[in-house]
Amino acid sequence: MQLTIDGTTHDLEVEPEMPLLWVLRDELGFKGVKYGCGIAQCGACTVQIDGQAVRSCQVRAGDVWGPVTTVHGLGTPKALHAVQAAWVEHQVAQCGYCQSGQITAAAALLSEVSQPSDEDIDNAMSGNLCRCGTYPRIRAAVKTAAQKMQEG
Ligand code: FES
Ligand code: FES
Repeated sequence: MQLTIDGTTHDLEVEPEMPLLWVLRDELGFKGVKYGCGIAQCGACTVQIDGQAVRSCQVRAGDVWGPVTTVHGLGTPKALHAVQAAWVEHQVAQCGYCQSGQITAAAALLSEVSQPSDEDIDNAMSGNLCRCGTYPRIRAAVKTAAQKMQEG
């Protein structure tokens, strides 16, 4: 099958039942996409499919319906995505394990809602758990990113 990931199309010989998370990490080496629980409980594995935040542990490779964007494809160290830059500014990460999922979910939110309220952020991101409790910094960083994106 073919999957387009971060702008590159890959020819893959994998079973259609294989979860996308496994394809990304084990077949293609996208280790920034994290395995947390494997059962839809933590959000660490979040990627975007066609701009929508999804849990890659719960999507079968054969069911992927559009281009996939991972945290690797959002920005580069020299050209950070506005969300990544805001994350740095607010020093959001603690242990870091949940953060690629958080950033990917936040970027998907901001592509839908340009100026999210606290409630919007909580509704969109409540499935992304952080055992380090970085939620206040996540909220602040999402708002900074929203402002920067609006300023262009
Ligand atoms: S690893 Fe997918 S939700 Fe936890
Ligand atoms: S920063 Fe440690 S789990 Fe979120």
